[in-house]
Amino acid sequence: MSKKKATIVTYGCQMNVNETAKIKKILEENGYEMTDDIHDTDAVFLNTCTVRAGAAGRIEGKLGNLKTIKNARKTKMIIGVTGCVAQEEKEYILERAPHVDIVIGNQNISQLPDIMKKILAGEAEHVVLTNKEDELPPRIDANFGEGILASVVINYGCNNFCTYCIVPYVRGRERSVPMKDIVEDVRKYIKKGYKEILLLGQNVNSYGRDFDNSDEVNFAKLLEEICQIEGDYWIRYVSPHPKDLTLDVLEVAAKYPEKIARNLHLPAQSGSTKMLKAMNRKYTREDYLNLIEQIRKSLPNISLTTDIIVGFPGETEKDFLETMDLIRDVKYENAYMFMYSIREGTPAATMEEQISEEIKKSRLQRLIEVQNENAKEYSLSFLGKTVKVLVEGPSHRNNEKMTGRTSENKVVIFEGDISLKGTFVDVKIVKAKTWTLYGELI
Ligand code: SAH
Ligand code: SF4
Ligand code: F3S
Repeated sequence: MSKKKATIVTYGCQMNVNETAKIKKILEENGYEMTDDIHDTDAVFLNTCTVRAGAAGRIEGKLGNLKTIKNARKTKMIIGVTGCVAQEEKEYILERAPHVDIVIGNQNISQLPDIMKKILAGEAEHVVLTNKEDELPPRIDANFGEGILASVVINYGCNNFCTYCIVPYVRGRERSVPMKDIVEDVRKYIKKGYKEILLLGQNVNSYGRDFDNSDEVNFAKLLEEICQIEGDYWIRYVSPHPKDLTLDVLEVAAKYPEKIARNLHLPAQSGSTKMLKAMNRKYTREDYLNLIEQIRKSLPNISLTTDIIVGFPGETEKDFLETMDLIRDVKYENAYMFMYSIREGTPAATMEEQISEEIKKSRLQRLIEVQNENAKEYSLSFLGKTVKVLVEGPSHRNNEKMTGRTSENKVVIFEGDISLKGTFVDVKIVKAKTWTLYGELI
């Protein structure tokens, strides 16, 4: 009998990418073979995101699509919903999508094999398992595939309750993974050959605060501990919250320039203190700019990236211009810019002075234009320089070229051999476009 096939479709952030790798491992260990073809598979899992209406809408569409496929099949096809929509809607998903068999929260995925067996044996029609959202999920191995990147979750959940954000409602309260487990996992992935280790948390800076010995354990200590692991690799992390980024983290980054990548993602959300207050971000424009100054002092060559929301309720043209200014001043290497999206149940959803879609769109457009200029300028600053590149493999656009990234997270394309995959090479930059650098292997 041929092997059963399973498919995972991943939406959303790196947290979901990480959990997909875990689900993949679980399914493979239970005899499933993975496929991307949703038309020829025995089980499909949508690992979902609900951070903005657009993300949630895509999942709605995909569920409709799967219904048609499921109905046309002769044999049973399991449909599962995991991730943040599962956590948000729980059993209500079944009301509008009764063809869904399983709704399962992130902290319960280790129970998937048993649940699937139950469904296939006809012992249960549907299984909804979204409890334990404030507990630390069991430690599960993950399969990150053929690439060079592996991620390790250091803390789950969020206690910050930014007024626009659904994440604290769907991911539960903050809970940190024991340092020993994290270090062991990082060591394991490096031993397996992964070269880029991404540490994940909604607010990595609050790592360890929920521990009894929280005065001894913190994010800086964790970083330092990880840096003791031998080998050639880069550590990255997302996301630090500006209100909690402490100097000791910058000190560790400065102490291990070969191990901690020279990029920092520091979500600003807005350049207006009034908006930051309404968003419950707990820092002012000045606090943020002072922090940037500190960072640049400690880590002169660091590249900065950020997240920005435009059109938050009450945002005036003046507030928006302050954000434009911030983007211009800080000169981010990259910025993820979003129109504010109403998430039901969050405080901002019912705030007065919601901004029209039209204004949101135009503000986003104006912001993107400024940021594109920054990105281009930043790229051009690499011209003629020789940079260290971690090689990822053949370029998607041109198979004969290799692609990789610098420590600052700039994409570099160059002529080279596939055998270079997973190695660090020196490349001289000869051409620079807004998003991509082109170079020659040295
Ligand atoms: N915990 C991470 C962010 C998680 S969500 C952090 O604080 O950095 C990723 C980004 O989505 C946020 O930084 C924010 O810019 C954006 N976002 C979250 N909720 C949103 C909403 N309701 N509308 C638009 N953008 C939103
Ligand atoms: Fe959302 Fe704010 Fe928590 Fe980030 S820190 S997940 S934006 S509530
Ligand atoms: Fe989306 Fe959940 Fe991540 S809502 S952004 S997948 S934490």
